[in-house]
Amino acid sequence: MSAPQPATTQSIALAAAHLRAGELVAFPTETVYGLGADATNGLAVAAIFEAKGRPRFNPLIVHVSDLAAADVLIEMSNAARRLARSFWPGPLTIVARRRMPSPIADLVTAGLDSLAVRVPAHPIAQSLLRQTGRPLAAPSANRSGHVSPTTAQHVAQDLGDRIAMILDGGPAPLGLESTVVDVTAQVPVLLRPGAIPREEVEHALGASLAEPVAEDAMRPASPGRLASHYAPHARLRLGATDVYEGEALLALGPQPLAHSGPFVNLSPTGDLREAAARLFAALRELDATGAPTIAVMPIPETGLGEAINDRLRRAAAPR
Ligand code: TXA
Ligand code: MG
Repeated sequence: MSAPQPATTQSIALAAAHLRAGELVAFPTETVYGLGADATNGLAVAAIFEAKGRPRFNPLIVHVSDLAAADVLIEMSNAARRLARSFWPGPLTIVARRRMPSPIADLVTAGLDSLAVRVPAHPIAQSLLRQTGRPLAAPSANRSGHVSPTTAQHVAQDLGDRIAMILDGGPAPLGLESTVVDVTAQVPVLLRPGAIPREEVEHALGASLAEPVAEDAMRPASPGRLASHYAPHARLRLGATDVYEGEALLALGPQPLAHSGPFVNLSPTGDLREAAARLFAALRELDATGAPTIAVMPIPETGLGEAINDRLRRAAAPR
């Protein structure tokens, strides 16, 4: 059970060590408490979804210490630069095209070509980022379906038994999540209203923000409505108990189906966290072989299996 620990030089150093070791640490930001993991470590990112009990893989916000660190990860369009100059560090998240190759684990973006980045202003978040020396993926530190936590005690109630450490920095000053703006299209889109009012964002841009196209554009991992959404060209055949000539095979567990063609085992031990961490990269890899169909072995519906199956069903849906 992790009880909140007051943020001190020592506890922040320990938290950074936990994060570098792939463990989860909750930390205060100016908006709400975040559940942080090393964004370059797919297994650590998978552990976020596991701890939150998320029913599906929503793309996560990556936190970095400054604009230079953001510039490494995303393409900074003129609009992005304007927004960054006006609001960073602070409660604005910019969704932009991801630079490739990317050090960020595929699971962070749920397979999207875009990446959400923000530079938090909170001094404890800043100090943690600098000491960890890695970009940190961090959704709000609550169980899925619960409201976002604005104190370390809220985090402890929700996640205390599931994470390595909770840094206590007192109540989050803003108490409302960051404003999320997507700059991947010609006209920037307000994906999530948040701590910075729309008018201020529009003033900084010198232009109006567009509305999201689909009702659930805030959750682009759902039916693939965003143009940038990654869906394999290959058809997916789920729950496969045999593999046909010419198919690629996405396997799981110690007894993969016998197959001589393209093949990835998501986890030879059947570890669902490992499987989640590899999922999106595996789909890309098998898709790149040009196989018309990917046969997918059954994935248990337990733990992270639910989110893995959700994503696979979406990728398999007719287009
Ligand atoms: O204030 C905040 O933003 C907090 C603190 C911890 O920084 N974080 C937060 O994260 O609220 P989360 O995971 O609860 O919300 C992330 C939001 C979701 O609406 C998600 O769909 C959107 O950002 N998002 C993330 N990556 C995206 C992407 N590539 N494209 C579109 N939307 C994205
Ligand atoms: Mg949230």
